[in-house]
Order: sequence, then structure tokens, then C-alpha cells
Amino acid sequence: ERYRDQNAGDKMNPFAEQEAWEDHQIGKATLKFGSKDRNQISDDYKFVFEDQIEFIQDGMMDGVNFEEDSSAEFEKSMAESAFEKLQDDRKTLPVYPYRDALLQAVNDHQVLVIVGETGSGKTTQIPQYLHEGGYTKRGMIKSNLLLQIWRYLWSLGAGTAKSTLSFPEIGCTQPRRVAAMSVAARVSQEMGVKLGHEVGYSIRFEDCTSDKTVLKYMTDGMLLREFLGEPDLSSYSVVMVDEAHERTLSTDILFGLVKDISRFRPDLKLLISSATLDAEKFSDYFDSAPIFKIPGRRFPVEINYTKAPEADYLDAAIVTALQIHVTQPCDGDILIFFTGQEEIETAEEILKHRTRGLGTKIAELIICPIYANLPTELQAKIFEPTPEGARKVVLATNIAETSLTIDGIKYVIDPGFCKMKSYNPRTGMESLLVHPISKASANQRAGRSGRTGPGKCFRLYTAYNYYNDLEDNTVPEIQRTNLANVVLSLKSLGIHDLLNFDFMDPPPSEALLKALELLFALSALNKLGELTKVGRKMAEFPLDPMLSKMIVASEKYKCSDEVISIAAMLSIGSSIFYRPKDKQVHADNARMNFHTGNVGDHIALLKVYNSWRETNFSTQWCYENYIQVRSMKRARDIRDQLEGLLERVEIELTSNFSDLEAIKKAITSGYFPHSARMQKNGSYRTVKHPQTVYIHPSSGLAQALPRWVVYHELVLTSKEYMRQLYQRKCPREKAAQLMIRSLVQITDLREEYGCIEICPGTGEVSIASLVLLQELLDELEEELGIWMRHPNCRLKA
Ligand code: CDP
Ligand code: MG
Repeated sequence: ERYRDQNAGDKMNPFAEQEAWEDHQIGKATLKFGSKDRNQISDDYKFVFEDQIEFIQDGMMDGVNFEEDSSAEFEKSMAESAFEKLQDDRKTLPVYPYRDALLQAVNDHQVLVIVGETGSGKTTQIPQYLHEGGYTKRGMIKSNLLLQIWRYLWSLGAGTAKSTLSFPEIGCTQPRRVAAMSVAARVSQEMGVKLGHEVGYSIRFEDCTSDKTVLKYMTDGMLLREFLGEPDLSSYSVVMVDEAHERTLSTDILFGLVKDISRFRPDLKLLISSATLDAEKFSDYFDSAPIFKIPGRRFPVEINYTKAPEADYLDAAIVTALQIHVTQPCDGDILIFFTGQEEIETAEEILKHRTRGLGTKIAELIICPIYANLPTELQAKIFEPTPEGARKVVLATNIAETSLTIDGIKYVIDPGFCKMKSYNPRTGMESLLVHPISKASANQRAGRSGRTGPGKCFRLYTAYNYYNDLEDNTVPEIQRTNLANVVLSLKSLGIHDLLNFDFMDPPPSEALLKALELLFALSALNKLGELTKVGRKMAEFPLDPMLSKMIVASEKYKCSDEVISIAAMLSIGSSIFYRPKDKQVHADNARMNFHTGNVGDHIALLKVYNSWRETNFSTQWCYENYIQVRSMKRARDIRDQLEGLLERVEIELTSNFSDLEAIKKAITSGYFPHSARMQKNGSYRTVKHPQTVYIHPSSGLAQALPRWVVYHELVLTSKEYMRQLYQRKCPREKAAQLMIRSLVQITDLREEYGCIEICPGTGEVSIASLVLLQELLDELEEELGIWMRHPNCRLKA
């Protein structure tokens, strides 16, 4: 219940907490750190850290080769000296003394597991070392002229494999977009080159690389996509799977794929780097690959727990931060971990309000938020050094746990939660919920305070919680997520036997089956589980299979122009409309204009996009209509890319705006499993897995309450809400229900008809069963007429 409440999120009133704040005032007893338990525990901690300190003192620094700048050339331009400073900084990183040993190890072994504390320089330095060590030169390229010819051919896009025409690259994957971008920016500075030239990054919908690029930072998902175009990754000489400990879905799949190609590409070097010590597991998986340890430079961290559990961790975190700020000298910054953007924005507002209240009595507090959707120009702010006499407080999501290193943090406040995806393979429901973190995460978070000197970590939970309630490790994403996307990618890579794929930790076979079912229902797979033409096209889109399906289906309904606009608008990940407090009525009216005629949210989004396009993408128009310009620009970028992909799968760009029904049909062919029917009291019942849900208040149909709807997604806040939906007709409800259920739920059918055999050993659905299922569907189809049929569903036995 408590976690559920927290998911209700922003319902707290930020300014009504004066009393609570007074209770928590410095010196008062309510929020006290330092119980007896705590002392014992922090002693444990000191014990752990002590030998590391010794290590730092004797030896570790000996290897560092400081170059004294005795010449002191003051005439140097500012830019040059900044560059020099960066070079000096590079030499102070813990990894630096191990540069040569590391290059040697890479030379000697094909696969190397690298372990080192966050901030030791793995991500920013190792690719540069390899670049300096010659891994980005192609041995054959001797003559400069030849090189230029190759470059020229490459620039012409000469169809041949890229690998033969350009330099080999070093690819480094990151689980997070922000990390890929910011690390690439940092490395380009360190190398003194323009971002996007020699050093670039590639994230979904944004490719900042060129034919010059030799160091490429990218999200793990992007490398996965590159496999589709280049199954042997021949343009890479080194692939570094970084932040391996995060065990994201894409990273886990990459493990299997790179392990496989390393067997027939002996020239490819693989680095698996991780911030935590469970490196043995990686080593075991990669056939006992050697482990290269970069000794950390970690100072003792004092751990403090609260005496009693905190009912409101957001407030407790803010109070703690202010307490630190007021009572401690301004010699270290504060890092607070929150679960997401909304929470961070609320915290930012409260902090601003309260520090304003304290006026000049306190030193300046610079508030720096950081989360995935934060605009790039604001992200850089967290890396700026804190001015003398001021203090920085960084409000971060999990991203600051290991992916990003922020210098100067001395205090960490850890509420103990993060947002995590979870997936119920039985129901096929995916949700993003606030969860308690694992012990491993808690320790990583604490460690962030001890990078530059002794630090303090304030855990907003009790020592009892820590020892008894927190799991040791976070469950890898592959075991708690919807696998439809991955299955589609693997299938298009020609990997059919998913159950025997070399997973480090295999996903539950139920989840795999669910994914297969969905893809079958979307006609991406045929009854043998092979990729169909539709599936092949779908795999080209870096989108959820249901979204890709709706795009592919738009060909039939001649409305691809509209459907990709809708797909882009649905993919931006942040809201489009805004609602300033003092102009709510105007904002609501502006929004409702797009909903005239109860067209549904998808069509409203389309209208927004098209109207904006008609004004030639005017910013003014966005202001007038209370629309977020930034979100719109992102939608435009995404749309451009989808348009490019349409061309690739040879779907013509056709517009059919006058026929809204056709557009809805295309969407339905991807989203029919998300159908819901109204119940008596204004609530809805989902068809696939009967569950009570509601229309989200932001929907244009919130008042209209149509009988049948198809929704884009479910979000759980105070209730389970359907977000982005439209109305569907349904001539025969009973049949429709049966249809949807049977299409998407082989397992249910099995229960109902006992006719679906699932082989216990492999989990495969037998062909006979699928044929039976097909017959069943054919029968249903006759009864149903054309309701929600998608083109490839009628499968020939
Ligand atoms: O990957 P690892 O955690 O081992 O360290 P890193 O990300 O390579 O960071 C090494 C150093 O680079 C950090 O101490 C930061 O000071 C600096 N850095 C930065 O200033 N800006 C970035 N965007 C990334 C790193
Ligand atoms: Mg790193």
C-alpha cells in the first residue's frame, strides 16, 4: 500500500508543510540520524574501507605520473590552458596508472572484464586509450590517397559494407541516453575535437556521428539495432559493454550476441565493464575471461539511518538537505536520489520556496536537476564547478547511481526508492512502479559521497529496513519486462531457438511465450514462429511492436503520413500540453479545440501536429495553444526518422486525413489487444485480461465515456488509468471479446480448451496446436465479419 501511495506521486501540496518543516528544524529531535545500530553499521563500513585507504596511501598514487607544468606559458590562450587542464585531470584518474597494463591485457585477450569504482575513468578513458593504442586504424590503410578515395566512396554511400570503406570504430554502450550524450561530449572535449566528428554518440532518434567517427558512445539498445544491419559488427574493432552491472534488457541480449560473434571474429575485442564486484559472473559467462581490476579511490563513508521509517520521503529528503546545508560548512555538494522527473520537479519547487524563505541567512544553494528528459543544455549544469561560498544540490534519478559521475559530492541522501519496470507474464501487463532499491544500489548510492574525500550518506529508512527488507541485488530487467521487442529483434537476426539462447540469466519462459503470442497475434510471426513479411518490416522500426504494427498497417489504409505523425507524438515521452496555474481555463479550452467531435486522443494529437506543421512549425503558435514547443520539436525529429524508415521498408508516404476511420483502423491493427468495454458506473473492463480501469482525466473522451475504446497504455497512479484512447465500434461484443482473448492468449485457450500443447522441455508451442488455434480463429472470423481483422491474420494451414 505504501508503495502504491507513493505512485500516486504529485498529490502532495508542496507548500503546506510548514509545520513539518518546523518539527524537522535543526536541533529538534524528530529527524535524527545516528542510532546505536547505525554506529555499529558505519563501523562495519569503515572497516571495509580502511584497507582501501591504505591502498590509496601506499602505492596507488605512486604510479601516477604527474607532469609538472614548469614552463608556465602564460601566453597560452584560455582555450588551450583549459585543454591542458583537462589533460592533467585525465592523468589524475584512478585508471591512468593502469593505461599500459590495460592496453597489454586487451592485446593479449579477446574478452576482458573490467571492474572499477564509478568515477575511476572507465567510460571516458578506456576508449581513448584504445584509440591512442591504434585500435581505430585499419592496418591496410597506408596511402593517404587511397584513404581519401575510400572516404569519398563512403560519402557517396557506395552500397558496399561500411566496414571496408571507413575506419574501424570503438563502440561503447551505455544503458542511458543521457550518459551516452554527456560522456561523448566530455570525451570530445578531452580530445579537443568537435562532438559528432571523431567522437560521437548514437541514441534512439538521434545520431550524432559522422564518417569520421571512431569513438562512438551509444545506448545499448542502439548497438542491438546495429546488429540488424551488420550482424558481425564488422565496422567495430572493439566493443565495450559498459555499466554491465546495470543488466538492462538490451545489455543482457548484447551479451549473448557479442559472445556469439566473438567466436567467428577473433579480431574483435570485447570489454565488459562494471562498477560492482560481481565480475566473476561476467567472467564465468564469457568463458572465464580474465578480470582487470582498477583499484578504486574510495574514502570512508559514514552511513546514517533514520530511526523510524519516513512516511514522506520527498519531504524528509528536502529537510535533510536543508539541515546539511545550514549546519555543515560549504565544502561539499549534496546529491539526492529521486525516482523520476515529477518528483524532482516538485522537490525543486519546494527547495526554491524554502530557501527563499530563509533569505540571506543561509549560503547560496544551487539546485541542479538531472533526469533523462532534461534538455541537453540544462544537463551540463550539474558538471559545472560550484562557486566559492555556495553549495550545489543535485536532484537526480538513478542515473547518478553509476552512469554519471558528479565531482564534489560529499553528502548523499538516499530515500531508498527507484522507479522500476515490472511485468506480469501471466496477464501481460507492464507497469512502471516505485520500488525499494536493492542493497547493491544502496551501497552504490552511498559510494557517490566518498569519491573526493570522506563522505556521509543519509538513508531515509531504518537499518532494520536495510538489512531485512532490501533485496541483495536488483533483478535483471530481462526477468521483469515485456519481451516482445527483443523477440522480434532476435527473430530478425535469425535466432529462432529463443529458449536455448545463451542468456546470462534466462527470462521466465512464460514471458517469452507471451511475447511470441503477441507477435503472432500482430502477424509478425507465422504459425511456425517464423518472421513474416510484416514482422520483417516491423523490426525496422525502433518502436514497441504494437506501434510498429500500426505503422506497417497504415500502408493498407493509405494513411502512413498521419500514422507516423501519431506514432511520433506518442513516442516523445513527455507531455505536449501545459497548463499554467493562472491560466488553466484558457489552456483547457485550447486543448479541447483539438478534441472537437470526440475524435479521440490519437486524432487530437494528429491535429496538433498538423496544425503546427501548417504554421510552418511556429513557436508562437505553440505558445498561443499552450503546447510545449520542445516536445513538438522532438516529435518532428522522431517523425522525420520514421519517414526515413518508411522509405526503407518501401511503404509509400500517403495522406488520407479525411478518412479518420481508416486511420483508426490502422491503429487498431496494432492495438486491438488494448480494448476495453464500459461497465455501468463509468469504469471500464479490459478485454484481454479482465481488469477494471478508468479513462485518464486528461483524455478528450473523459466526459464522453464511449462504450468501446482502444487505449494506448495503462498508467497506475491513484487508479489504473487508460491514457490516449479512441472509440471503436463493435457489432458483436461477445464474439469480439472471444476474438481478442483468443488471439492474444494462447495460454488461456489452453486452459479453456485443453488443446494447446506446450512442450515442457523447450516451452515451444506445437505446430498442431497452432493449426488448431488457427481453425478456431477462422471459425470466429466468420462469425465476426471484419471486426479488427488485420491483413495477415488469415494463415494458411
Ligand atoms: O566510467 P567511470 O564511472 O569509471 O568514470 P567516468 O565516467 O569515465 O568519469 C571519469 C571522470 O570524468 C569523472 O570523475 C568526472 O569528473 C569526469 N566526467 C565529467 O566531468 N563529465 C562527464 N560527462 C563525464 C565524466
Ligand atoms: Mg562509467
